[in-house]
Formats: sequence, C-alpha cells, structure tokens
Amino acid sequence: MCGIVGYIGTQQAAPLLIEGLSRLEHRGYDSAGVAVGGATGLRVAKKAGRVRDLGEGLPKRFSGKAGIGHTRWATHGPANDVNAHPHTDGKGLVAVVHNGIIDNAAALRAALSADGVELASDTDTEVLAHMVAASEQESLEDKVAEVLSRIEGTYGVAFLHADFPDRIVVARNGSPLLVGVGEKEMFVASDLAAVVRYTTTIAHLDDGEMATVTAGGFTTYRLDATGPAAIERRAQSVDIDPDAYEAGEHESFMLKEMYEQPAGAESVLRGRLDERFGTSHLGGLGLDARDLREIKRVKLLGCGSAYYVGQMGAALIEELARVPADAEAASEFRYRNPIIEPDTLYVAVSQSGETVDTLLAVQEIKRKGGRAIGVVNVVGSAIAREAGRGIYLHAGPEVAVASTKALTNMFLAFALLALQLGRVRDLSLAQGKELIAALNELPGQIQQILDTADAIEPIAQRIAAAESLFFIGRVRGFPVAREGAQKLKEISYRHAEAYQTSELKHGPLALITPELPTVAIVPDDELVERNVAALHEIAARGGPLVVVTHPGVDLGELEEGDCSRIEVPRSLRALDPILLTIPLQILAYQAAQALGLDIDKPRNLAKSVTVE
Ligand code: F6R
Repeated sequence: MCGIVGYIGTQQAAPLLIEGLSRLEHRGYDSAGVAVGGATGLRVAKKAGRVRDLGEGLPKRFSGKAGIGHTRWATHGPANDVNAHPHTDGKGLVAVVHNGIIDNAAALRAALSADGVELASDTDTEVLAHMVAASEQESLEDKVAEVLSRIEGTYGVAFLHADFPDRIVVARNGSPLLVGVGEKEMFVASDLAAVVRYTTTIAHLDDGEMATVTAGGFTTYRLDATGPAAIERRAQSVDIDPDAYEAGEHESFMLKEMYEQPAGAESVLRGRLDERFGTSHLGGLGLDARDLREIKRVKLLGCGSAYYVGQMGAALIEELARVPADAEAASEFRYRNPIIEPDTLYVAVSQSGETVDTLLAVQEIKRKGGRAIGVVNVVGSAIAREAGRGIYLHAGPEVAVASTKALTNMFLAFALLALQLGRVRDLSLAQGKELIAALNELPGQIQQILDTADAIEPIAQRIAAAESLFFIGRVRGFPVAREGAQKLKEISYRHAEAYQTSELKHGPLALITPELPTVAIVPDDELVERNVAALHEIAARGGPLVVVTHPGVDLGELEEGDCSRIEVPRSLRALDPILLTIPLQILAYQAAQALGLDIDKPRNLAKSVTVE
C-alpha cells in the first residue's frame, strides 16, 4: 500500500520519478507527488488523483538530480492535494515520503503544535519532516535516526534535506524498501517494479535498517538504541524480466494475469511432482516424513482472496490427506488469543508476502512456539522471511489489484502439500499418481476455460446490470462462491453476497426476486442433486440463475427458464474448485468492462495491504 521511489544521479530526477511512480500506482492511487533537490533547494509538486495528471502538470523548471516520489493510499485524512506526499517542514528544508502508519502520530502532532509548529496536513507523515528539520544532530543520518527512535508504528521512509543535497536517507520498519544500483546513479523504491527498467542490482533493507544513498553508492546502518551503526549489505543481481511488469498487448494487467494462469500453473508444479512415488517434492518446506506424520491439523491463514482460497485448500487437504484442516482470516486470528498447538501446521498464505495482518499472525504463532510455513508469491518478502520456510508460488509479478494467477497457484501449492501429507498417511500410490495426472492436466483445462470467455460475455452484461447478486455453493463449492462474489464486488462494485446453498432457505431466500440473479456453483459431485433442488427453489421465486457446472449435469426444466449455464472441464473432485473459479474471474472482469470501470485500479483499494 502506497509506493515510494527515489533517484539520485546524473539525470534529471523528475521524469524518472514519474515513470517509477506510474509503475507503482497499483499500490495506491489516491494522490501522487514528487520532491527534487537542486541548486536552489527543494521543490515539491503533489496532487490528488493519478500519476499521469501529476506528470502533465509539473512546472517547467522542476530540475534537480536527486528526488523522491510517492503514490498514496489514504490512511490519515482524505485524498486531497495537501495530504499527498511528499510532506515538508514548510520551510523548504526537509521533504519526506512514507509508507506505513505512525501509531503515536496524534501525540507527536500535539507536541509539535504545542511548540508552535503549524501542521499543514491531516497526515501522520508530516511530523517526520518537522521533527527532522528541528533535530540538532549534525548528520542527516543522525537526525533521521533520532526521529525514528521516537516513532511507534511501521514505516518505509525516504528523506531529502536541502543541507545535504548529495544524499537520500531511507529507512525501513515493516514496510519494504530497496536500493537499486545503477551506473553513477542510484534508486530507492518500495517495490522492484519501480526500478526494474533501470537496474536489477538490488539490496533489500531489513526492518530496523537505514541507508544513505548517494549518486556513487550506498551505506547501510542498523538503527540501534545508540544511533545508526554501520553494517554491510551487498546488492545482488535479481533474475527478473522487466517485461513481466508490463501489460504489453493486454488492455489491463488483470486480463494479462488471467491469461497467464496456464503458464503460471505449470511453473508452480514444475520439478515438484514425483510420478514414480506418487508424491511431491517441496524443497523449501523443511519437513521430513516424520515431521509430516506428526502433523495432526493444518490451519491456513490469509486475508481476502488468500483466505477464500485457503478455505478451498483446507477442504482439499482434509479430503486428500485426511488431516483435519481449516482456514481462518489472518486479520482476526491474533485478536482472539489463539491457542497454538505444537502439532498443528500453520500455513500463512499471501501473494505479496507483505499483508501485515498475515505477517502479524505468523509472528503470533512463532511467539507461542508454533510451526508456520509460508505459501507466498514474492520471493524474500516479509512473510516468506518470517516463516523461514514454505512453498513459493512462482506465478511471476501480480500487478492487478484483483488477484487471479497467484490465487490459482496457491490452490496448486495446497494440492502439492496435500499430496505429501497424504502419501505419509493413507493416500495410496495409485491415488497419488491419479492426483499427479489430474494436476498435470490443469494448465490445459484452465486454458480451455479461458478460451470460452466470449461465450460468457452476454451473461456478464446481465450481471453488470444487476444491483445485487447472490453467489452460492456447498462444501467445496462454497469458497468458490465467496471468491466469485469477492472478485465481482472488487472490480465491478456490484453488491454480491456469498452463501452456502443450504443456508438460503434459512433467511436470504427472502431477497430472491427477478431483479436478483444468483450465480450457483454446482459441480458434479455427491451434492449435485441437492444443489439442483435448491436452484428450483430460487427459480420458483423468479430468481434468475447462472449455473457454473460440469458437462452432463442435468438442470432439467430450469434451462427453459431464466437460467444461463457455464461449463468447466471435469477434474478430480478435490481439484474442481480451482476450475470452477476461473469463469467467475472472467465474469467479474467482463462485468467491470461492461460498466466501463478502471479494472486494475478499483475504487478505494490498492495492491498489498501493509496497514492493519
Ligand atoms: C482480492 C485481493 C485481496 C488479497 C488480500 C491478500 O482479489 O487481491 O483480497 O487477496 O489482500 O493479499 P496477499 O495475498 O498479498 O496477502
């Protein structure tokens, strides 16, 4: 949430900052701003709205070869020009950009006001600029360290100071920050996406670290109680294709990422399936057969879509491995003082690896002596590092706010885990091999569904016209319904509620009218007849139906009424949920498109939720 970029070198900073910000915009798009340091001091431009508007409106003389920029997802105060970052001390001495939340901001703001400082914005961040400006320490590093020692909360920060025009000072505590090394120029950023066009030689800061970045290099420090203590941190070359961060020929990142799912699914499976022994190899798990047998329960923890796919995973693990499993919203977990059991495997599920609620859940588990692994996409991210072991998703960068390809790979990672847990228990060699065969078919089956997108379009048009919808499913279909409703809400702003099909008649059926369509998940499983019976109850009350199902499922006379049918190929029953999810992504996408919405940047949201 929020993006930071910085540049210092031989070129004019502003165009590079604007370019970097445009690549970070998915992380927050309420406002954007830049500050540059030049011969005549600091200059700041900031604006509510998009980076493009900021770039177009930059003053002609906005020169400076050092600069910092920010794209904001509002926490303190509305999304207006004044609250946009960078924040300054008001006297042209200090400019700062900040990701994260300062928990003691109210007290710090009150103290500054009592000292006669006039605060211009409603933000927590502005205090940093005033405090650094007021610090009597000699070096910028000591000023920043002194101020940060008084900050409670999380931050990734970058400071410019008019008296120290040769440097940017950055620091990290809970919000990612990296330094990119170029030729006589250096970059700082909260995300690789901002700098990958210019350099892939990167040093990631750890929590509690600070860096001085000059045109010629960088120096890192640990923020100790006594001040900054120099430490060595080397930049390393990262193996990433800059094009992975481009939408290319696709009209949006979400569309691109949906269509990357077959290739992504192959990547997460590659090298991990052992056909001979009917099991999987998961090098990063660090659990041998004995450890795996000792696991009595699996608890999956994630937020939003990562939670819903966790529910799919729990059902899958329980069904295949016969180990009790459940999923819980990571955002609620630590607040109920959870009992951490030594023989439970806790699985933290996160695309970004940065979601603070999930990270704090892992910390709670570790504090109480529990065993956690990560199922994470971003290599080296906070959750991956905190868990210390787990399964990487290899989905490639996911830029669209609405998660698609990472979610699919999460499901497949759970299948790999279930296979291993099952094979040290009662899952037979033949069953293991059967699961592997089904997994190998999935990428092609996902492609098959994507190829039917045109046929889904008329259904999406109707959905776009509805104010409110139900998504329903039972047992393994219920989390699919939850994820379908989530995608639709997120990008098309239709009101969509997910219910267990079995629960409809206990209340929500009262809402069924010809104006409220129901998207029903009806796999050809042991519940198909009951599911179809529930659809009749909806149809009898005039409710339009969209049924996501398998070929051959007989919907009888329902199909003569207001009922559309979307089919997905059959897999093993346990794997069905992921195939049933794909048309719901398409449906949500096309509905948002029909409504003319900005699909990659949905209202009020941002990629990676790094605040509680
Ligand atoms: C939905 C979506 C969010 C994320 C959630 C967790 O499409 O993207 O609900 O799934 O914020 O994010 P990660 O997986 O990065 O922890």
